[in-house]
Amino acid sequence: MIRVLFVCLGNICRSPMAEAIFRDLVKREGLSEKIQVDSAGTGDWHVGSSPHRGTLEILNKYQIKADELFARKFTKEDLNKFDYIIGMDESNIGNIKKISEHAPHSNTIRLLDLTDQPKDVPDPYYTGDFQETYQLVSLGCQHLLEKIKAEMNLKK
Ligand code: 4NP
Repeated sequence: MIRVLFVCLGNICRSPMAEAIFRDLVKREGLSEKIQVDSAGTGDWHVGSSPHRGTLEILNKYQIKADELFARKFTKEDLNKFDYIIGMDESNIGNIKKISEHAPHSNTIRLLDLTDQPKDVPDPYYTGDFQETYQLVSLGCQHLLEKIKAEMNLKK
């Protein structure tokens, strides 16, 4: 089993969106038995909460299943449990490193560094633009799946 963890700050806007989009992509490719997906936040303000209404609305718009998404905090142990840890922005990557007490983290990647638009995923908690975030997260997730398929020699 290949394990993928998406990480943002609050785990209510971007990383649960990425979790749902990526799980949907994995399912469409018939790889659900091989790739497990989760998300977490480096902050603990929203632990136990469902995603932000804007995230739920955009997922619903694209008919992507968004059940059973509850915020949790990223922990040091996640570093060993997951094969790929995907931060949404540079500050997430910094926070992951801090929480992991600077353990080796070669599997930690900023999502859009996998695309031709290497930059932070804008946080719709502040921008209010869930559509823009959806487009960028979708693009990043497509690239991530291609990378994992290539690296892990995955076939259906
Ligand atoms: P997220 O957005 O990291 O994409 O889930 C945020 C959600 C909540 C807060 C910050 C960012 N907050 O400060 O409560």
